[in-house]
Amino acid sequence: MKFFVDTANLAQIKDAQALGVLDGVTTNPSLMAKEGIKGHDAIIKHYMDICDIVDGDVSAEVLSTEYEGMIKEGEELAALHKQIVVKVPATKAGIKAVKYLTAKKIKTNCTLVFSAGQALLAAKAGATYVSPFIGRLDDNSVDGIALIEQIVDMFNYYDFETQVLAASIRHTMHIIQCVEVGADVATCPLSAIEGLLKHPLTDIGLAQFVKDSQRMA
Ligand code: G3P
Repeated sequence: MKFFVDTANLAQIKDAQALGVLDGVTTNPSLMAKEGIKGHDAIIKHYMDICDIVDGDVSAEVLSTEYEGMIKEGEELAALHKQIVVKVPATKAGIKAVKYLTAKKIKTNCTLVFSAGQALLAAKAGATYVSPFIGRLDDNSVDGIALIEQIVDMFNYYDFETQVLAASIRHTMHIIQCVEVGADVATCPLSAIEGLLKHPLTDIGLAQFVKDSQRMA
């Protein structure tokens, strides 16, 4: 399973890259705004900065909600760097944009996916990734992991090449559950990736080894 970090924070992206297990980055307008990125030139520069840090795919979301605007923005974003994946919402205009951009050999990530039907249409339009939002479903008493499993099964059954990118991950257990149901990618906050390392027995064991190593000096 590939690991993407779900942030527009350059320090966190550098930190995740330095860990050596990072396969890409996802951003969205909320994450970009949180970093104070404002205006066309600043947005473009920020995506270029992210591409300079990581080796893998970098999802950059269109701001337009209309088809014409989406494809115009999508083509501009894709031309920035070969790592850019154009992120579009799972709407009627978004599906049409995925179809258009795919025909132009531009990678896409269909986002705000909350149902198997949305994932199906995105895959049929040729999306490189679909992003079902686990945490936001869980927040609404709907099993997010069950949706990931349903989409993975559907794509396997019909041999769709679209990758299932589990998004809106809140904690380490979500990551482990994504592994169990065969998600292709998990995009996570850095804290959730680092959380995988946490175990009290590791801390206790290491403290003992450090103590005993002093007897060897
Ligand atoms: O990037 C999309 C998604 O991962 C957002 O997550 O935590 O805002 O639901 P969240």
